[in-house]
Amino acid sequence: MNKIFLISGSAANPAHTTTLIHYIARQLEEHECEVTVWNLQEKPLPFIDPAFHHNPQDHTVQVVREFVQLASEANAFVIGTPNYHNSYTGIVKNSLDLLSFAQFKNKPVGLVANGGGIRSTQPVDQLRIVIRGVLGIAIPMQVVASNSDFIEVQDGYELQDEAIKSRVAMFTEQLVDFTERFKD
Ligand SMILES: Cc1cc2nc3c(=O)[nH]c(=O)nc-3n(C[C@H](O)[C@H](O)[C@H](O)COP(=O)(O)O)c2cc1C
Repeated sequence: MNKIFLISGSAANPAHTTTLIHYIARQLEEHECEVTVWNLQEKPLPFIDPAFHHNPQDHTVQVVREFVQLASEANAFVIGTPNYHNSYTGIVKNSLDLLSFAQFKNKPVGLVANGGGIRSTQPVDQLRIVIRGVLGIAIPMQVVASNSDFIEVQDGYELQDEAIKSRVAMFTEQLVDFTERFKD
């Protein structure tokens, strides 16, 4: 079974990005994937310690070892970020800096972003460069939403926009396809 590790990098609670990540996780489950969602707002990680750059699994902080283990076991990733100043968030970058090549090498990575204003591709465009840096394979499909694609519900947000929903369907199909092709 394909194991997909999804990371939500919003500092807000509730967050549109986390809502989108959970929506994507449910779609991936329909493709028979085993999904794990890590919400960095709910389960924060400490600042990167460069002493563990090449051996993150030996980190002295238990929550980091847990994060590294899930990343190591994953066949693919989904990384979601809000748009902060035309880019991904600092907490997303910190979480990726806690990992190394071994966690990403030849693994597909789907990129997702949400902005307060427009559907900007800038955060995911910049994340592509980061993913190349850790030897991951950023898939061509991406999901870029904005706040107006969601409605407010009692305990947070719900994805509403049909175009984004169908984009998620194409995105998850491609992620599963790439995961199958790159496994082993
Ligand atoms: C520090 C900071 C910078 C931001 N910069 C941008 C920006 O450049 N463009 C934009 O569209 N929204 C920007 N926003 C708004 C967020 O993208 C918006 O609050 C969005 O709802 C965040 O998604 P979330 O609910 O998943 O956290 C910024 C928000 C913060 C906190």
